[in-house]
Amino acid sequence: MPKGTENKPFFITTPIYYASGSPHIGHAYTTVVADCLARFKKEQGYEVFFSTGTDEHGQKIAKKAEEEGKEVRAFVDEMTDGFQKLWQALDIEYTKFIRTTDTHHIKAVQKVLQTLYDNGSIYQGFYEGLYCIGCEQFKTEEDLVLGKCPDHNSVPEFMREESYIMKMTELQDELIHRIETDVLCVTSGKYKTEILSFLKREKLEDVSISRKNVKWGIPLPFDEAHTTYVWVDAFLNYLTVLGWDGDTDVVPKEWPADVQIIGKDILRVHATIWPAVLMHLGIPTQKLLLTHGHILSGGKKMSKTMGNIIDPLTLVERFGVDGTRYLLMSAGTFGGDVDLTLERMTEKYNADLANGLGNLVSRVLKLAEQVSLCREISTLKDSETMDTLMNEYKFSEALQHIWQKVSEANKYIDEMKPWVLVTSDGTKFSEVMEVLLGQLASIAILLQPFMPETSEKIKRALKTGKVEPLFQRIK
Ligand code: MSP
Repeated sequence: MPKGTENKPFFITTPIYYASGSPHIGHAYTTVVADCLARFKKEQGYEVFFSTGTDEHGQKIAKKAEEEGKEVRAFVDEMTDGFQKLWQALDIEYTKFIRTTDTHHIKAVQKVLQTLYDNGSIYQGFYEGLYCIGCEQFKTEEDLVLGKCPDHNSVPEFMREESYIMKMTELQDELIHRIETDVLCVTSGKYKTEILSFLKREKLEDVSISRKNVKWGIPLPFDEAHTTYVWVDAFLNYLTVLGWDGDTDVVPKEWPADVQIIGKDILRVHATIWPAVLMHLGIPTQKLLLTHGHILSGGKKMSKTMGNIIDPLTLVERFGVDGTRYLLMSAGTFGGDVDLTLERMTEKYNADLANGLGNLVSRVLKLAEQVSLCREISTLKDSETMDTLMNEYKFSEALQHIWQKVSEANKYIDEMKPWVLVTSDGTKFSEVMEVLLGQLASIAILLQPFMPETSEKIKRALKTGKVEPLFQRIK
């Protein structure tokens, strides 16, 4: 355990997912990343708070419920249930699941809005522009490709309406300064460059934070004809999930968030509107926006609107919990886009899990069984490389590092031929088995954040000397 980490709070957040449909691989990816990081930090001795939840207000969701002929409340309950079931199936150990329809959250959001209004950060005005309902965001001409939103392949609507506006322009220089100096760190580097070049190129417009004709939302306390813009409502989950009631004088000890994990499509709002709300409130901004790329399917971003969704539960049925976690976390360099196909995932599953790790565990344990060798596992991790890679958020490289150990151990068995030694040279056999059991123990410990169930199974097998099959080959 590194020095000084004991009981230090470490706050990790995922975005809260729109309760507008069933979860897809993109959501699963963000959440599995957060879970692996949370487990790694816990292992290091931090007192981790890991939050996730659902974003339940807004026009898009109300419309969806109506299309399905359901009452909105019942609809969001059903959708949220789907997310919670998936997180259970994927072994996600969150600390708290927040819903923006929680009374506590709503009250805190209203208190914040009142504060922002009272301190002059919000004023009454008009807002007009091109609005994409899919993104729930106003778009600039530059965001569009041939007049359409590239993420939703749809033409945004022109909207002009009376609205409350939050000041942004005056914060532009301060935002640039915080991002440039890493007070608000954006990683990886290419995302930092991207957001800084946006902030230096374009004037930040004051932003509309209310909608007049959207009923499914939190009413502004100073003008109940308006409801809050979904993003402002949603961002505040990062504080209300900690039990915060909106009082700017009493901010929870976990804040500022150490790591906010987001996909690149929501980087801009997280690096502009969210810190702006915090600055207006006099609350420190988040420490890090850890940004990942998109999971593509057949070369396109996977999304409801595009209709190319892979159901994560199907993956769990096919590859098991840890198989799915492994395939997601090892798919491409963190930060870049990855194109997933079921065929490639199956190939990787067979090569790395059934053949690589599964084979190693069964070979070593079967040999150990013959002579009743077993071993106690210490909980200490013994790899500096692993710590460095994890602290730099290089998840797929961390897995490659573990799999290098797997193939080294498999190679060592092939070379040493312990199945021959067991009858020809007892002393040598014991020496070789010592090495192998040590290697397996270290692999089991390193795997823990990524594949908690498998790690446990290997440790149990090492203790009892009994092996259970880990991964069956898939056709
Ligand atoms: N509700 C907002 C977030 C509010 S947070 C204050 C939202 N929800 S979302 O459901 O559309 O997306 C949530 C997360 O899923 C984002 O991080 C997004 O990048 C991620 N993904 C959605 N589709 C994705 C892929 N195809 N691939 C990887 N992640 C993507 O935005």
